[in-house]
Amino acid sequence: MKKKIVVIGSSNTDLIGRVKEFPKAGETIMGVSYLQVNGGKGANQALAAHRLGGDVKFIASVGNDSNGLNSLEYYQKEGLDASLSFVTDKAPSGVALIWVNEKGENSIVVIPGANGMLSPQCIHSIKDEVLKADLIVMQMEIPYETVKTVCDMAHENDKKVLLNVAPANKLDEEIIRKIDILVVNETEAETISGKKMEEIGEEAIVDALLAMGAKTVVLTLGKRGSVIKTNNMFNHFPAFNVQAVDTTAAGDTYCGALAAEWARGSDWDEAIRFATAAAAICVTKMGAQPSIPTEQEVRSFLKRVN
Ligand code: RIB
Repeated sequence: MKKKIVVIGSSNTDLIGRVKEFPKAGETIMGVSYLQVNGGKGANQALAAHRLGGDVKFIASVGNDSNGLNSLEYYQKEGLDASLSFVTDKAPSGVALIWVNEKGENSIVVIPGANGMLSPQCIHSIKDEVLKADLIVMQMEIPYETVKTVCDMAHENDKKVLLNVAPANKLDEEIIRKIDILVVNETEAETISGKKMEEIGEEAIVDALLAMGAKTVVLTLGKRGSVIKTNNMFNHFPAFNVQAVDTTAAGDTYCGALAAEWARGSDWDEAIRFATAAAAICVTKMGAQPSIPTEQEVRSFLKRVN
């Protein structure tokens, strides 16, 4: 039977400007085009896990404004259950200001707004619903205290936690020990471990995170794919070669896909291959949520590249 996933995280409105090159400090440049779409690492991961076949509930905090209410309506239309989310009058909905350059690279500033109101108290008020999950997925665009509370709650109740430490943040070792699947990129791995990947290599930095208490570590490497280490097994999965238009939400799509495959009971090899394919499709389109593929698209892609 398919396991249940609860994603607790941010919901933002992404204001995206395409530019030839990122502006330098003090410089005014002319952009190429503008797009406004729903985003937020939490929402992107929840939507990815949902589009990719997972049984998902999404918990966020949005402002009582058009951005927040429109995003909740959009999730409902998509069939993603966000009914446990909070709507607050105390802060505006989160926004992200995103530049995407000609190479498809991005530069993002998040103004968290209402995401910052997703407090431990909010989570306690819906504890029974949260604990219906088999896997709880989180990122770092909500208060750290909330992430800690959920990790404690999950640990006490034998629930699995996937934490994507994005944006990069230091973590208490007490928290790392409660994480089953830690997903990090190079910067995030270096921030947590205090070591430099260039100096010690991929496996050693993953080992440092495992030594801090994480049970499974997935290290994403952009164009070079990703590596996983669990139960002493270390594997590298190369990325698929695609023409990148916009890398925004590639990491989120990867995390959502990994959660959805894990929930179907797939082994790590299958799950990472599936997540790698989902992320590859994501980078070929503009915007966060518009570029997240369906399960059907990922399965067809994998058949084509096999
Ligand atoms: O990971 C991409 C996301 O980061 C964007 O959708 C933006 O909202 C920020 O949260």
